[in-house]
Amino acid sequence: MLLKTVQRIELPPAADMHVHMRQGDMMQLVAPTILQGGVDTAFVMPNLVPPLTTIDRVLAYKKELEAAAPGVNFLMSLFLHSSITPEVIAQASAAGITGVKLYPQGATTNSDAGVADLTAFYDTFAAMESHDMVLNIHGEALESLTPPGITLEEAFLPTLQSLHKRFPKLRIILEHCSTAAAVEAVKACGPSVAATITAHHLYLTETEACCDPFAFCKPIPKKASDRDVLVRTIAEGSPKFFFGSDSAPHPLQSKTGAEPGKAPAGVFTQPFAAQLVLLGLCEAIERGVLAEDAINEEILANFLSHHGRRFYKLPPAAPLKKIVLERQGAAIPASVRSADGNIEVGISRAGEQVFTLRWEEA
Ligand code: DOR
Ligand code: ZN
Repeated sequence: MLLKTVQRIELPPAADMHVHMRQGDMMQLVAPTILQGGVDTAFVMPNLVPPLTTIDRVLAYKKELEAAAPGVNFLMSLFLHSSITPEVIAQASAAGITGVKLYPQGATTNSDAGVADLTAFYDTFAAMESHDMVLNIHGEALESLTPPGITLEEAFLPTLQSLHKRFPKLRIILEHCSTAAAVEAVKACGPSVAATITAHHLYLTETEACCDPFAFCKPIPKKASDRDVLVRTIAEGSPKFFFGSDSAPHPLQSKTGAEPGKAPAGVFTQPFAAQLVLLGLCEAIERGVLAEDAINEEILANFLSHHGRRFYKLPPAAPLKKIVLERQGAAIPASVRSADGNIEVGISRAGEQVFTLRWEEA
């Protein structure tokens, strides 16, 4: 298959292992866009306001999501906080909660209640290891703790390595990895450590992220060489790397109305999740970073669907459904908007031509 010219691609339903669905009207707007992006399974982040720190709230939120987006399998997470004790882990595991998200305190949107001292959670991590729950990590050190000359993500990598060493069987995901160094660090760990890669980190660099509010997110996109390592990592096909869009909707006005450099962090890709991964890979081929035949259906299916499901120990993708992507000259609209017009969210790469996507019985 030559991705640059192929007209039609059939793939299993994608699994998006990192989504932000928010609450209320915003949730009602964005949850139905999951299927539009070719995704039938979504791992949901708990950085709500207030953060999801109780099992009851996580389960109630799951019900709301299922009602807003029938047909999507939602995997749920708790927000790591001092109230998440080993007893809570045992109960969460029994209640079918999949993961626990670790946000360093203050690292990103709605993370003020995050973790200041990791060592305080060692008993919790041990309980997660024995209950086989997944630890999802926002892998960025605080700016105040990061030496000059390295990125916040690079500064976090020793913490990832020491956690893995201390809890070798604990399944850890370094979320939205964004640097060549992070890819190397994840490869150097055992099979219990994996990483998600977003669509937008395949096509954004610091040049756009610094100045376009719709390209600003955390971790901030880095150098072209980091971006190119991410696309090459997908082409290599290691099971340690899989799709997690980190699609993070913010009201349009909060992006356009912010002072330069002050927009909230988050790139919204959900309605075109699979299509934007293809766009990022296509552009890498055009730049000559990947060979023309480096991407085929198997690599796409592995990255978008199989690797994530396997790491999460889910059953294989629904065998009776597939997504069909075709080049029909369609372009990404500027935004999604609620029926009453009250909420609008700008979509990444608006105006760009992408594959159309439809669901079919396999
Ligand atoms: O860009 C981001 N937006 N990065 C995160 O870690 C959080 C997310 C959000 O919730 O808006
Ligand atoms: Zn996120």
